Amino acid sequence: MKYLHLLNFSLIILFSACNSNKELKEMYLDKNLPVDKRVELLLNTMTLDEKIGQMCQYVGEPSKSEVKNVDEEVQYELDLGETAELIKQSKIGSFLKVPTYKEANYLQKMAEESRLKIPLLIATDAIHGHGMYQEPITIYPTEIGMAASFDTDLANKVAKYTAAEMRATGYHWTFSPNIEIARDGRWGRFGETFGEDPLLVSEMGKAMIEGYQGDNFGDSVNVIACAKHFVGGGISSNGLNGAAADISERTLHEIFFPPFIEAIKSNVYTIMPAHNEINGIPCHAHHTYLSKLMRDTWDFKGFYVSDWMDIERLETVHKVAASQKEAAKLAVLAGLDVHMQGPGFFDHVKELVNEGAIPEKVINESVRKILYAKFQLGLFENRYVNATKIKNTLMKKEHLDLALEVAQKSMVLLKNEANILPLSKQLNSIFITGPNANSQALLGDWSRNQPDENITTVIEGIRTKMSATTKIDFMECESYHSYSDNFMEEAKKRAKSSDVTIVAVGENSIRFDKDKTSAENLDRPILELAGQQLELVKALVSSGKPVIVVLINGGPIASPWLVENVAGIIEAWEPGMYGGQAIADVIFGDYNPGGKLPITIPRSVGHIQNFYNQKPSAFHRGCFFQSSSEALFEFGFGLSYTQFKYSNLKVKNSFTSDDIVTINLTIENNGELGGDEVVLIYINDIVSSVTTPVKKLVSFDRLHLEPKEKKEFTFDISSNSFKMFNQAMDYVIEPGEFEIIIGNNIIVSTILYE
Ligand code: GLC
Repeated sequence: MKYLHLLNFSLIILFSACNSNKELKEMYLDKNLPVDKRVELLLNTMTLDEKIGQMCQYVGEPSKSEVKNVDEEVQYELDLGETAELIKQSKIGSFLKVPTYKEANYLQKMAEESRLKIPLLIATDAIHGHGMYQEPITIYPTEIGMAASFDTDLANKVAKYTAAEMRATGYHWTFSPNIEIARDGRWGRFGETFGEDPLLVSEMGKAMIEGYQGDNFGDSVNVIACAKHFVGGGISSNGLNGAAADISERTLHEIFFPPFIEAIKSNVYTIMPAHNEINGIPCHAHHTYLSKLMRDTWDFKGFYVSDWMDIERLETVHKVAASQKEAAKLAVLAGLDVHMQGPGFFDHVKELVNEGAIPEKVINESVRKILYAKFQLGLFENRYVNATKIKNTLMKKEHLDLALEVAQKSMVLLKNEANILPLSKQLNSIFITGPNANSQALLGDWSRNQPDENITTVIEGIRTKMSATTKIDFMECESYHSYSDNFMEEAKKRAKSSDVTIVAVGENSIRFDKDKTSAENLDRPILELAGQQLELVKALVSSGKPVIVVLINGGPIASPWLVENVAGIIEAWEPGMYGGQAIADVIFGDYNPGGKLPITIPRSVGHIQNFYNQKPSAFHRGCFFQSSSEALFEFGFGLSYTQFKYSNLKVKNSFTSDDIVTINLTIENNGELGGDEVVLIYINDIVSSVTTPVKKLVSFDRLHLEPKEKKEFTFDISSNSFKMFNQAMDYVIEPGEFEIIIGNNIIVSTILYE
């Protein structure tokens, strides 16, 4: 802090000595100056109003917009009313929910008319592609599917390509990645997460942040990322979005904090606190976590953006503030830098600063971080986008190819009775039905519906595979919820007259769809298939012909009857724009599925919370009446069309804290098909001073082996992976033996920490 004031002072003296006041004011526009100096120069010329304005975010969605002229640079007149004036007075620093580049250009144009010409940050929820953009765009599988691929390179590329499409359209900031740990399948936002494991979530989050931001977001194809939501929304009470989370300090440190620590180490530039309270303190007012823990201890250098109206909710929901003004004070003093969204916040903060309740240096700190982003992103020099450049970037071939590759690698084969899959392409007849057979539910949440010609649905994917002689019988399902007796009878009859039936069921979390079954603010009271979907599956199975179920969903589908009675199950998650093709590739063997479950699938909603890294006592005594406590499917489960044999596990007998623990393992593809195998390596701290999970994932990799190929692989595990929080909450490795567990207990060895 002292350095900054010294820098400030010396800058003013230095520059005022050689420049007139006007030139001094404009010095921050010199792109040859270091960004930090430009920030200080600009900050020193800003009024309090202009500073607080940088902390204010508004919605850029026009209540109406009309094309003003028809030449090359179309201008949309956003009917922003008095917001337009606020922009020109620099009382707004960023926008979200801006429809297209036309409105983005228009908003930037207004900002350029302001005294200091500070450009706007245009933000969006680009969670798995630039999905909220209001023109056709590349839509990748949602995060849960990316996680199931266990391929961090894919996640990195999704972020990199998404950033390119964002910057081409004038957007600079994505509210992604969601790095919450998801442990309660009722939560409607499960599909937005990378699942239940801290290492997988951390590595996927890191990969996306690096993809979005590149090297400190200095390139014109980078955006600033946002790690969210801090913390505990994936385990809120009743699985309801925004409800209270009550998590022990130990579990926070062991399970929920690591992804944010890794995100900060990856220099994520923004973080969004969670809607919920954590242990009695709303995340948006949590000074201990936001400032002391994350800034002082974890060294977070970026800025916080509130979640939607969550500063206001400190009064209206959490009741920790008696007024909106007090809510603003709590949030800003806790560490919040940007308010999402709209009027009120500006006036409250201005009053609070004038009253001395918020020191102006707190405002200065927030504004510094925001201005740094704008300079570093190059917005002062390039605030507009050009329509001609856009079409060369959106939906480029490598972006579309990646969308298919991620979808293929995300597929998890859950059941394949008598190896019925892959199906022959020369079948005599095939029956396809189910609410997700011809639906854009493939796209998942945070995506607008796309032009039908840009999407491959399940039925469309299947049609591309079948020989000309195959009779393809497709029966459209109009609903997720209810089917008439006639519909059921007809479905059973048509299944009976076909060689095999494929039924696509599951959820629909398309953001603006009337028939949504889950997603943000729509949590599930059951984990069974929604509505009468299970009855439909039962009717098809009663035909006596084999039934293959394709699940399209974000959160877990817990359906024991389905698992026991159908011939095959493919978990496709929300596989994005080419999901139907990837599903057909797997069904007909053009792609050998290699994905693994990034979550535990419980037997029912009553078995929640069921995650793999349970404590030893989890199932040691009690059991459920007339139900097993075993998961329906374990974390890390996934079948292949080939078989992989593990052997020859080699690990040294002991290690010290300076060591890297190297594990050598031979893996052989015993089958006739090439395929990917996700290798999962766990440890178990056999005896510890506090209880530790029965196993903890410490390394993973996705490997490819051709038929009969046999290779030795090496995995290096940092000794840090063996640490735990002891009774004093010190993060240590305790002396003693650890088990090394490969896959689902395929091979076990031990190693001693001395
Ligand atoms: C929502 C979500 C958050 C999102 C924000 C802006 O409330 O919780 O994830 O980024 O609003 O759309």
